[in-house]
Amino acid sequence: MQRRNAAASGSVALKEDLMTIDLARARRETPGCASVLHFNNAGAALMPQPVIDAVVGHLQLEARIGGYEAAAQAHAAVERVYDAAAALLGCQRDELAMVENATRAWDMAFYAVPLGRGDRILTAMAEYASNYIAFLHVAHKTGATVEVIPNDASGQISVEALRQRLDKRVKLIAITHVPTNSGLVNPAAAVGEVARQAGVLYLLDACQSVGQMPINVNHIGCDMLSATGRKYLRGPRGTGLLYVRRSVIGRLEPPFLDLHAAEWTARHQFAIRPDARRFENWETNYAGKIGLGVAIDYALEWGLEPIWQRVSALASALRTRLETLPGVRVRDVGAERCGIVSFTAARQEPTAIQQALAQHNINVTVSRLPSTRLDMETRGLRSIVRASVHYYNSEEEVEHFCTTLASILRA
Ligand SMILES: Cc1ncc(COP(=O)(O)O)c(C=O)c1O
Repeated sequence: MQRRNAAASGSVALKEDLMTIDLARARRETPGCASVLHFNNAGAALMPQPVIDAVVGHLQLEARIGGYEAAAQAHAAVERVYDAAAALLGCQRDELAMVENATRAWDMAFYAVPLGRGDRILTAMAEYASNYIAFLHVAHKTGATVEVIPNDASGQISVEALRQRLDKRVKLIAITHVPTNSGLVNPAAAVGEVARQAGVLYLLDACQSVGQMPINVNHIGCDMLSATGRKYLRGPRGTGLLYVRRSVIGRLEPPFLDLHAAEWTARHQFAIRPDARRFENWETNYAGKIGLGVAIDYALEWGLEPIWQRVSALASALRTRLETLPGVRVRDVGAERCGIVSFTAARQEPTAIQQALAQHNINVTVSRLPSTRLDMETRGLRSIVRASVHYYNSEEEVEHFCTTLASILRA
């Protein structure tokens, strides 16, 4: 209904045949839609009602009967998250670990990769700060080297350059699928093909992509993939997951072990568990885990393909509209672009824009140079405004966002 009105108003309208999402229902089931214009889905998306109910319900159960007892009673709901995530990513439940965020997921995989002097790690220009810091950390300790593959003309990782850099010393390819600071979608599957042909371990940071587009680990060909709950999956904060391909789990010794990841089998012995839960730890946020399972099921119910079509169409409408505003420069690069829209304005600093939008109840965020130093330095950027849309955002919101921004920029 709201969509038809937008089309009728002639402002921002998306192709009707691409839009199979029932927007009215999506918004009705998202209480936050009533109070804010939320274009910070790449920060933390608004949770839908079923996720809120699941999390709050479990906390209430814990309060009523006790935390351990609640976990036992909700065992099926807790375990559901593994099946839901397996369906989401096209993998098996024993290839999944649930942890507290994407960074911890990524770290558990990265620090488990055996690396020594002379070994080479290949990464990309848009790499996230935490990952790059870990590369430097391990490189300093072990004598391994980290090398950055240049971009191609479109601004995505050059798959050709990657292929040319391979040799026997390359032990890991680790790239970010969608960076924190732009709408770029790196060609993860083409990179996976190169990694497979060379027999090199491939770790994909899919923190910003999971939940906004279909992701299949076999299609991509990654050995490890990290994701977070709160962003495009619309799950609770403090949740994340790690996928590790069954055939490589045994080769990867987690950097930390506890009595959940391993068993103390004899006084001087322990055995690391054979599945991906070796990357977990014992104590966990049960309400969060249940909520993440519900969030993934909720996304699967909408369908990742319809979600992706609507997210990319809305983002592209937003880019087109932003480009008409005087002084505004859309900063997204790459052959394929997603729901993250990054821009700068000629006269106002990104932080001033963010604050002014907040006065109008509009959420965006600012991404700064230290989060993606290689990319930002190369493009001569210190900070950008990041407006990230989700399928529950409306065409009217895109229009309202742009008219509000235009009035801010005129002031
Ligand atoms: C590309 C990328 N990787 C990893 C992370 C870290 O995710 P988390 O905060 O869940 O640890 C972020 C967060 O913004 C990100 O943008």
